[in-house]
Amino acid sequence: MELRNCGSSDLKLSALGVGCWSFGGGEYWGEQAQADADQVVRRAVDLGITYFDTAESYNEGRSESSLGRAIRGIPRDRIVIGTKISPSNVAPDVLPRHCEDSLKRLGTEYIDLYMVHWPITPHSIGHFKEQQTDCPSVQETFTALRRLQEQGKVRYIGVSNFAAPKLREALDTGTMIVVDQLPYSLVARAIEHEILPQCRELGIGVVGYMPLWQGLLTERYAGLDELPVWRRRTRHFDARKNELARHGEGGAEEETWQAVLAVRTIARELGRSTAEVALRWTLQGPGISCVLAGARSRQQLEANVEAAGERLSEEVVQRLAAETEALKKKLGPSCDYFEGTANDRTR
Ligand SMILES: NC(=O)c1ccc[n+]([C@@H]2O[C@H](COP(=O)([O-])OP(=O)(O)OC[C@H]3O[C@@H](n4cnc5c(N)ncnc54)[C@H](OP(=O)(O)O)[C@@H]3O)[C@@H](O)[C@H]2O)c1
Repeated sequence: MELRNCGSSDLKLSALGVGCWSFGGGEYWGEQAQADADQVVRRAVDLGITYFDTAESYNEGRSESSLGRAIRGIPRDRIVIGTKISPSNVAPDVLPRHCEDSLKRLGTEYIDLYMVHWPITPHSIGHFKEQQTDCPSVQETFTALRRLQEQGKVRYIGVSNFAAPKLREALDTGTMIVVDQLPYSLVARAIEHEILPQCRELGIGVVGYMPLWQGLLTERYAGLDELPVWRRRTRHFDARKNELARHGEGGAEEETWQAVLAVRTIARELGRSTAEVALRWTLQGPGISCVLAGARSRQQLEANVEAAGERLSEEVVQRLAAETEALKKKLGPSCDYFEGTANDRTR
């Protein structure tokens, strides 16, 4: 497995990381057996994967606990653990306790990469907490994070879902930020507009999430309506047809399905699976340090690792980009796929 530096920092991540959001199971993902999570993690380490990604909010902490159980017995220096603190918990008087709780659930003495999950704004905080709390200043949050770093509880500091203006604001606190974790796939290319070029220029690594768009970029579904309802909340889908969606927009079903069919056709021509091609395309994105794919089972993990090994020709990369361009245009430059463009939480 290829290891890549995160931008100009010395933090190295495996090009393919394991996304652990489903670990612990819950309303969003349904059941996820601990035995499968154990197998995914152990097999991943055997195959050279080093990076495992979770968050305190995933399944109310059960994702961290499940990952913590799965890594028991694995030498700590073989793995890189990334977790995220919710923006509702970054005030300096509560942040250290949340970090301690994550450390406990993960069963480790330090977090390799500690990220702020979404920008620190009243709007994004509101998504994590029903009751509005005061919004701390960006400066005091990052100062508190640096304190954890000085105490050895955190090795590197990162952000997630920070569009260009928010990343600039975070950097202005004087903090060394090594990663911005952002959505990136053939059906979600908004980061190409501004934040990806900015990260490349600044030497900040981009960790791309949802490369398979939660199963949309596979052969599993005969139509968009077949996707589980929780996975139809993004701006690809008409909000009026799904009460769980909160973006309030009309969707881009036609362009989305055209894009999926085009990727499937190209994959068939190459004798590969749609998931393989989608994953590989994301991995080859310039400036991408790591791509996070969720795997529910050892079989999915192995298929994803195999995909990560095979390069696509430049011609195929360009063709895939051309075939998904109409969708990119339709969805526009907002990197928040779950909220309406006017309420973009990433800016
Ligand atoms: N920072 C953020 O705000 C943020 C947001 C989202 C995700 N993330 C991170 O990114 C990670 C990845 O995202 P994700 O898990 O939501 O989406 P994903 O990686 O695009 O999709 C994962 C899903 O795709 C299916 N799958 C995986 N490998 C497959 C294969 N080889 N063949 C066919 N289907 C396959 C599985 O679906 P089934 O469940 O149907 O089997 C799996 O649950 C997360 O775990 C999390 O760590 C971060």
